[in-house]
Amino acid sequence: MSNVIIIGTQWGDEGKGKIVDWLSEKADLVVRFQGGHNAGHTLVVNGKIFKLSLLPSGIIRENTTVLIGNGVVIDPFHLKKEIEELRNQDIKISSENLIISDSAFLILPIHQTIDNLRENKKEIEKIGTTGRGIGPSYEDKVGRRAVKICDLFDKVDLLKKLLKVYDFHNVWLKAMGEKIQYPEDILNELYDIGQFIISFVQPSSLLISKYNDTSLNILFEGAQGTFLDIDHGTYPYVTSSNTIASQAGVGTGLGPTSIDFTIGITKAYTTRVGSGPFPTEDTSTDGIQLGTRGHEFGTVTGRQRRCGWFDAVLVKQAVSLSSINGIALTKLDVLDGFNSIKICTGYYLDNNFINYLPSSDKQQKKVKPIYEVIEGWDESVVGVREFDKLPKEAKFYIKRIEKLINCPIILISTSPEREDTIYLKNPFEMN
Ligand code: GDP
Ligand code: IMO
Ligand code: MG
Repeated sequence: MSNVIIIGTQWGDEGKGKIVDWLSEKADLVVRFQGGHNAGHTLVVNGKIFKLSLLPSGIIRENTTVLIGNGVVIDPFHLKKEIEELRNQDIKISSENLIISDSAFLILPIHQTIDNLRENKKEIEKIGTTGRGIGPSYEDKVGRRAVKICDLFDKVDLLKKLLKVYDFHNVWLKAMGEKIQYPEDILNELYDIGQFIISFVQPSSLLISKYNDTSLNILFEGAQGTFLDIDHGTYPYVTSSNTIASQAGVGTGLGPTSIDFTIGITKAYTTRVGSGPFPTEDTSTDGIQLGTRGHEFGTVTGRQRRCGWFDAVLVKQAVSLSSINGIALTKLDVLDGFNSIKICTGYYLDNNFINYLPSSDKQQKKVKPIYEVIEGWDESVVGVREFDKLPKEAKFYIKRIEKLINCPIILISTSPEREDTIYLKNPFEMN
């Protein structure tokens, strides 16, 4: 058996959903361990498109159970909507294949209001959040006043807990001249959603231990990406959770020795949505071409993603932060037809060479990428499923990246379709 973690190595949207879906054929349990419905994971199966934000991507596979772990923040209104939408796409969802941790914390409507108000009030330096209340919800969690999934089932107790959250936030809303909100307005609907999801709710850390003890395969599905991590990312332009591999244990209730393999999902170029430093961002023709060919628009907010060349400094840092064992390289096909392709191999900071992303946001904004230029390829790699069938320049690109980031590439994705994947090593078959 193997327990495998999948995480993004850049700023999210690396194609985690497609790879999780592809690997989940071998997984008994697919688990989300952080983030919330700020994630947007798109899967394409035989031409049919599935968009998931909160539910783990394994839900699309029959015979795979999925779990939303304690580290995730759940908007119950959104959860109900996503379940209903997938059911409308003929995906079966029952307590047999969906488990929700009773210890996960809630995103409430007031969190979403605050997230949006804060962003709209900033003249400059907006984070560019997804506006889904992620930050305010995690703040309440560490502030020890939040409401959990297990609190949804007792109406009297639920109201008491909601009051604590609403009293806290209404002070700020009032001070800002905004309308205050009343928990009584959402109490009944929230309680009803509790009844709708009650059959899915379990003490999930016990369940995950059971899967682990009985040698079943667990696949941990990360959301966002390494440089959106609250500790290791481009702070403050980050999300409010830890996105690196170590969070898989904290967000589910399993220790680090239970993990067998960590895969980093890496786009063959770089994108970022929202504000913040992006050393290889290219706003000229190349960047526009990458965005157009890669259809780089956010799944959640529809915003245009910023684009640029591959940054080996960042990905090498991500490999080290999560002790990544192998990389899944996605969207190689987007590089089809470029005469030359650039790879960032280091930075200049005030004319000094550095080979890491500095911690200070001021310095992160100042670094200038140093590029190595390699030859592109004329042929299309769309749909290629064998390494040997790739053009020699594409093979060179892959080998060069491997060397620069100091990590083997074990999977290569050549289109959004599930099966258009070159599979060099399957982590579930490596022990
Ligand atoms: P995630 O958030 O990491 O799951 O990534 P998203 O789903 O937000 O964004 C990745 C996008 O690229 C989706 O629309 C995928 O369908 C698409 N995609 C994934 N792999 C490939 C690939 O190899 N080639 C192309 N052209 N598109 C891909
Ligand atoms: P997936 O899982 C890309 C970004 C937002 C913003 C910052 C903070 O699809 O890769 P938040 O709403 O989390 O407080 O926003 O993080 N962000 C993402 N960018 N992909 C994501 O998820 C993201 N989730 C959040 O754009 O810059
Ligand atoms: Mg996404």
